[in-house]
Amino acid sequence: MTKTALITGATSGLGYDFVQLFAKDGYNLVLVARNSQRLQEIKKSLPKIEVTVIAKDLSVPGAAKEVFEETERKGIAIDVLVNNAGFGLMGKFDELDIQKQMNMISLNIAALTELTHYALSGMKLRESGRILNVASTAAFQPGPLMAVYYASKAFVLSFSEALSEELAGSRVTVTALCPGATSTNFGAVANVEGTKMFSRAMASDDVAKKGYAALMKGKRVIVTGGLNKAGAIGAKFMPRSMAAKVAKYVAGEK
Ligand SMILES: NC(=O)c1ccc[n+]([C@@H]2O[C@H](COP(=O)([O-])OP(=O)(O)OC[C@H]3O[C@@H](n4cnc5c(N)ncnc54)[C@H](OP(=O)(O)O)[C@@H]3O)[C@@H](O)[C@H]2O)c1
Repeated sequence: MTKTALITGATSGLGYDFVQLFAKDGYNLVLVARNSQRLQEIKKSLPKIEVTVIAKDLSVPGAAKEVFEETERKGIAIDVLVNNAGFGLMGKFDELDIQKQMNMISLNIAALTELTHYALSGMKLRESGRILNVASTAAFQPGPLMAVYYASKAFVLSFSEALSEELAGSRVTVTALCPGATSTNFGAVANVEGTKMFSRAMASDDVAKKGYAALMKGKRVIVTGGLNKAGAIGAKFMPRSMAAKVAKYVAGEK
């Protein structure tokens, strides 16, 4: 039977590249993002598979539940969940809009956690399933000037690794994808395009391909790119205070 993947943040960047990878492998898709016109365009571009689009702002409390209920009403079982939607913001914590930062926590953490909960119950019943949570290399250290974003991704990584261990020995896997700077709309949304951290961004389709391969192998954590891997390892062996200084340095202008 044809499997179905639900992808959040499917309208651009990594999410859009995941859509292409799953479609190529013949998956049916449930695509979630806010821009309904773009979702419809993507659906039209994929005539050979069944595509359900759900236009939803996942930062609104209750939105993740509404998405899941819509899949249930349509009788869709989610075989693969890709929690990809997320955004960052550059600036001092106290100077950034607090509502935007709270929305970031709602999207990057709360919606991801809730969708995982709802999808996991069906996966456990069917004794099969895969979950890909998009974290970041930001997960490995504190991030001055993007404090809430880095902390949100630390949550995603810790949560995914813990869940993966809870599910060890079952046929349900959880993979955390940790990209470094990647060429998508993220840089413009977060206002980080002119920073040192974005001076070497990886191609989005390359990052998505590596994440997809790791997901299909059931790997726990994948850091994309040699430099990013070295950075993640370095952060593990550095005092956290020093790692925070390095993160602050790379958040500075080129
Ligand atoms: N690019 C990087 O350098 C980088 C590095 C590490 C990790 N990441 C992570 O990768 C993931 C994907 O980001 P990206 O780089 O592909 O950025 P992107 O091009 O800006 O894509 C973000 C996606 O999320 C959707 N989205 C944003 N807010 C939403 C909301 N409130 N409700 C539902 N959907 C929402 C957007 O669609 P709509 O606007 O249509 O809602 C879009 O499809 C994020 O979790 C990000 O933190 C990115």
